[in-house]
Amino acid sequence: MPGIEIRAPDDFHAHLRQGAPLAAFARRHAAGFARVAPMPNTLPPLATPAALVDYVASIERAAPGLAVIPVFKLIPGMDENDVRALAEAGARIGKYYPAGSTTNSGDGIRDPAEADEALGAMRDLGLALAVHAEEPSAPVLERETAFLPVLDRIVRAHPGLRLSVEHLSGAAAVRWVEEAPETVGATITAHHLCFTLEDLLGESLDTALYCKPLPKSGADRAELRRAACSGSRKFFFGSDSAPHEPARKAAGAAGVYAAPVALALLAGCFEEEGALDGLEGFIAVHGAAFHGLEPNRGSVRLWREDWTVPEAVDGVRPLAAGRTLRWKAARSA
Ligand code: DOR
Ligand code: ZN
Repeated sequence: MPGIEIRAPDDFHAHLRQGAPLAAFARRHAAGFARVAPMPNTLPPLATPAALVDYVASIERAAPGLAVIPVFKLIPGMDENDVRALAEAGARIGKYYPAGSTTNSGDGIRDPAEADEALGAMRDLGLALAVHAEEPSAPVLERETAFLPVLDRIVRAHPGLRLSVEHLSGAAAVRWVEEAPETVGATITAHHLCFTLEDLLGESLDTALYCKPLPKSGADRAELRRAACSGSRKFFFGSDSAPHEPARKAAGAAGVYAAPVALALLAGCFEEEGALDGLEGFIAVHGAAFHGLEPNRGSVRLWREDWTVPEAVDGVRPLAAGRTLRWKAARSA
């Protein structure tokens, strides 16, 4: 079967959740990825050294083959000592959620000034900042673009701070990242590369594709594809895999369970763009370089095989459920 073998990938943005469901989600991730940056919007949030250390240990216990890049959540008023203690506990990334922007973000940042002391400390300690870049008060399709002035302010106030704009969804944000200093990068998901608002809403509502930020227009998707396939080291993969149990999903929770299909979707996208030889950079090289990490050992094999995505995986309706994909992926030794 025609296929490719490339370096084992990183996922710089995933929600592995907590409690009983975590083990299955962590193992599912380990089937495709060598390393993951798990997001800290748990309840309570990962905002103290003890919570962070416990959380990383729970993932390593569940999925020994999956290395963890510890991420803490920025809380208004966190000071330099808080950040230093988190760094000493192993944190590499701090996540900025605007208050009210997404799942469990009520305790997020209301005004960027609230994070200034922590961001200064992060820069001094070499930690990276990951930002959920949406302005919650703007109309839902304009939230990402409306947040760009806040990103400008952060870059101006903290030169040298490594900043990753998470889950890029629109053309304006792509161009903003391209024009920003070299210390600025961005993650892009498989679903924003493969789907648009039409797929989510056009025929009938596909709740498996409902997430924040919303997938946008074909023109936005084309810009995301251009950036991901460009070979620019500013752009790298973050799945934003965000499983919700069926009852929460039925109640309107945003988040797609992308882990079971992400690599297959990415291979299809890069193949369509004639850029399969750039896939390894996007999923296994650029992000590690941005974050100052060694590249992973081991590899992942991707091959052409049609399969229909099941209606349930790990008790969750996955992204692309019921659709036929043309690639499969599995980690090798
Ligand atoms: O759709 C989303 N779901 N976007 C986020 O930013 C958070 C995530 C979640 O935790 O469910
Ligand atoms: Zn997320």
